[in-house]
Amino acid sequence: MTAPKTFRIKSFGCQMNVYDGERMAELLGDTGMTAAPDGADADLVVLNTCHIREKAAEKAYSDVGRLTREDGTKPIVALAGCVAQAEGAEAQRRSKLIDLVVGPQAYHRLPHMVAEAAAGRRSVDTDMPAISKFDALPARRRSGPSAFLSVQEGCDKFCTYCVVPYTRGAEISRSFAQIVAEAEELVAGGARELTLLGQNVNAWEADGHDLASLIRHLATFGELERIRYTTSHPVNMGDALIQAHADVAKLTPYLHLPVQSGSDPILRAMNRSHAVDSYLATIARVREARPDIAISGDFIVGFPGETEADFEATLAIVDTVRYASAFSFKYSPRPGTPAATMAGQVAPEVMDDRLQRLQACISQHSTAFNASCVGRTVPVLIEKKGRKPGQMIGKSPYLQSVFLDTAAPTGTIVHARLTHALPNSLGGEEVTLAAAA
Ligand code: SAH
Ligand code: SF4
Ligand code: F3S
Repeated sequence: MTAPKTFRIKSFGCQMNVYDGERMAELLGDTGMTAAPDGADADLVVLNTCHIREKAAEKAYSDVGRLTREDGTKPIVALAGCVAQAEGAEAQRRSKLIDLVVGPQAYHRLPHMVAEAAAGRRSVDTDMPAISKFDALPARRRSGPSAFLSVQEGCDKFCTYCVVPYTRGAEISRSFAQIVAEAEELVAGGARELTLLGQNVNAWEADGHDLASLIRHLATFGELERIRYTTSHPVNMGDALIQAHADVAKLTPYLHLPVQSGSDPILRAMNRSHAVDSYLATIARVREARPDIAISGDFIVGFPGETEADFEATLAIVDTVRYASAFSFKYSPRPGTPAATMAGQVAPEVMDDRLQRLQACISQHSTAFNASCVGRTVPVLIEKKGRKPGQMIGKSPYLQSVFLDTAAPTGTIVHARLTHALPNSLGGEEVTLAAAA
């Protein structure tokens, strides 16, 4: 194989994988490679995979299988992300097409591994080195209007259903100085909104700072308009962070705070270390600090032992919190996790039924939330062109997609009066600031 000149990276799973995908592209770009244009063959394909549910993991292998070209040749195939970490060398036994396997904490070594593959040598690197990969990554240069910034990796919570503590390793916080430096680079490169990422981002702490004080510091950057953070764990939702929602104007009124279930016995079996009451008390404190805050969440239906009554308690918590949006999943047993071997595994047709009922309930509330915004004027950060001529798409502070006609370029904030609500977005009209006031 000759040295590859073009690459394509496909990221699946959570925002941390999106962030990692961008960093891998920058690393490969620094070696002189370029991204393959849409639709064109690439010399190197990186599948940046997710292991969270069985379907996501199986997808990785079916995607690998499709990479052989009609003429029988194939690109260099790199398996990255959480399936790579979970499977290691086993991945190359399952598929001969995979040239290299690189875990989420080792991808700074990707360029070297690609060179090895070009020389005909297969490799596996699923190390979790003591020196963080972040120290080996290049500076950020360009950014879209909204950028992700990983501030924390891994998870120490060990919910009994979840693979993340195994695929991402122990919880580590990046240093304050390193995060601030990367934030400065992203803003200089065009970012107007930063989303701070971590599996338990609200547990971030380093160099005498907590997440609230990091946010307060970033809010002093003149050109930075908005700060978001995700995903938070209910037990780490401390007073300082809640207070930041009350008085940091750039911190958006949006909080993703997964509860997973509305039943205490199920939360205990999940090892979630919070109860329904304590979760609801946290939501109440957050709403007191920022009354208009949009709350979103994640739910699992059909966790082992979940009865109809447990499930109805989940419907009840959705009605109580009135989520602006939420993700819901059927429980998927993951190899090596405690829940996979628990008694009381729930039948697939019961899970299907519960998922449908939960999604109907969630969508009632998200539709109502969007409808309640009609008539309001909100700042919209323009992110990209819409499908129709003159139309642009941006985000409201509540993370809703807003369509509007405007001459404003991407990366600017325009004020829009929201005119109509669709299930997953809103239409708006640009208004001048004076009219917005
Ligand atoms: N650290 C975050 C998100 C973890 S993964 C948190 O704790 O909230 C994102 C979501 O996937 C989880 O919130 C959970 O709802 C879902 N999930 C994780 N493991 C799962 C499994 N085995 N089966 C089904 N859904 C799962
Ligand atoms: Fe998984 Fe729980 Fe950690 Fe979230 S907090 S990543 S659900 S173990
Ligand atoms: Fe998936 Fe790994 Fe993220 S398992 S959800 S890509 S941390």
